[in-house]
Parts: sequence; structure tokens; C-alpha cells
Amino acid sequence: MKAELSDVERAHAIYTKRNLAVYDWWVLGFSNAWLWHCPTEKLLELYRAHITANHLEVGTGTGFFPAKTMPSTQPRLALLDINRNCLEKAAKRLAAFRPELHQENVLEPLVIHGARFDSIAVNYVLHCLPGRLDQKAAAVFDHLAPHLQDDGVIFGSTLLGQDIQRPVAARMAMALYNRKGIFSNTRDSLGGLMEALSARFRTFNVEVCGCAVIFWGKGLREAYRNQPVPNVAATSVAGG
Ligand SMILES: C[S@@+](CC[C@H](N)C(=O)[O-])C[C@H]1O[C@@H](n2cnc3c(N)ncnc32)[C@H](O)[C@@H]1O
Repeated sequence: MKAELSDVERAHAIYTKRNLAVYDWWVLGFSNAWLWHCPTEKLLELYRAHITANHLEVGTGTGFFPAKTMPSTQPRLALLDINRNCLEKAAKRLAAFRPELHQENVLEPLVIHGARFDSIAVNYVLHCLPGRLDQKAAAVFDHLAPHLQDDGVIFGSTLLGQDIQRPVAARMAMALYNRKGIFSNTRDSLGGLMEALSARFRTFNVEVCGCAVIFWGKGLREAYRNQPVPNVAATSVAGG
């Protein structure tokens, strides 16, 4: 008998080694241009504007974005993903930067030792996670805040299920991905993301681009500063 996958497992089960081999072509090449109407170049611009040499990449996929935009040859680069295949694929691509690897669920408290990061990216992760955007963004930002410098930046983008114009092909693809549990964004609204950002960051920005919203939040509000790193057991994988 096949065991039922949880919603969290369904969100990343698609990232097998075989699927990751075509991820850049399918998602970053075809889907961004023709389904979501948010060109990958626009996301690269976001990375170029915010990535630092002390960076945590959450939900690595194939490691495409840090590989193209890392501003230093000797950065501190940490990769965090729940899925081992993604971590391995990204670590291989980014091996020149000697990344730290953390296999963890971003919906739970995160144990990452060492200095806090100046930049943290969560690109195309929120629309995969189960729950409503205000709740899941709040949970993710709360788990990342203890690992961010007080004046650090969190940035990324996510595909919305509400508040945007979705061409027919985008609507059909999103419906299919939601049925399969690869996406959980039918209730994801722009307002939900803005609420989560404004509660935690002194300045933030959102910009709709096709079916995506590109965002950043900078400077933690007082209540989120200097939080202790949670002390829970987690799997840290040796650096690649
Ligand atoms: C759509 S891919 C985005 C990859 C990359 N950031 C990009 O923009 O191309 C989503 C990534 O989030 C990861 N992911 C999904 N659920 C997660 C969770 N609960 N905790 C940590 N990572 C998760 C997946 O394994 C995958 O690497």
C-alpha cells in the first residue's frame, strides 16, 4: 500500500533528480516567459540588487540564481532546502563557493549556527508551501528572522493565486499544480504578503510582475531583532 504524503512532502516531492535535470529549462526558461509572464531576467535583477557575500539561499532548486549573481568569489553561502536532491544539485553547481548545507523545513524553527546573514532569498518557495500566504509568509519570516542581521534583507518572489490577471494557460497550469500539491497558492493574495512584510520589516517593497509578486523587506522591526537561534534538533549536512 502506498503511504499518503503530507502537504509539506507533496510540495517538494516533484524535485527528483530527473526533474531537476530539466528544471532550469522548464521553469526558468519556458514557464517564466510563457506561463507566468515574469521573465527570469527580472528575478536576476532582484538578486543582483540584494544578494550579499554573506547569504542564505532558502529553497535552492538547482542553485541557478546565486550561481549567476554571487557578488564575491569567497562568500559565506548557506543553502537550505527540505529536499536532499535540490541541496545536492545546488551544492554541486555552487561548489566553487564552498556552501554550507542545511536540510531543513522552513515551516519549522531553523537551526543554523554562525553569524547572522546579511541577505536571505526565498524565491518561488512560498507558492509551494501549504497554507494561506499571510500565514505561511509569517511563519517563514519568523523562522528566518533570528538568522538575519538587524539591517539585513529578505527577498524573493512568489506566484499569486489572487489579485492578479492570470492568462488562461497560467490559470490551467496553476489549477493542475494545486491539485497535485506542487503549488498551494489558490488563496495567496498580495495583501497577505504585504501584511507579513510590514509587520516585520521597517521598509519593504512589492512589485507585481505577470503572475508573480517580487518582494523585499529590509531592517527588522524592534520586536524581531536579536532573537536567539532556536535550539531544536535538525539535520545539518556537511558543506559541499
Ligand atoms: C519552485 S522551487 C524554487 C527553486 C529556486 N529558488 C528558484 O527560484 O528557481 C521550490 C524550492 O523550495 C523547496 N522547498 C519546498 N518546500 C520546502 C520546505 N518546506 N522547506 C524548505 N524548502 C522547501 C523545494 O525543494 C525547491 O527547492
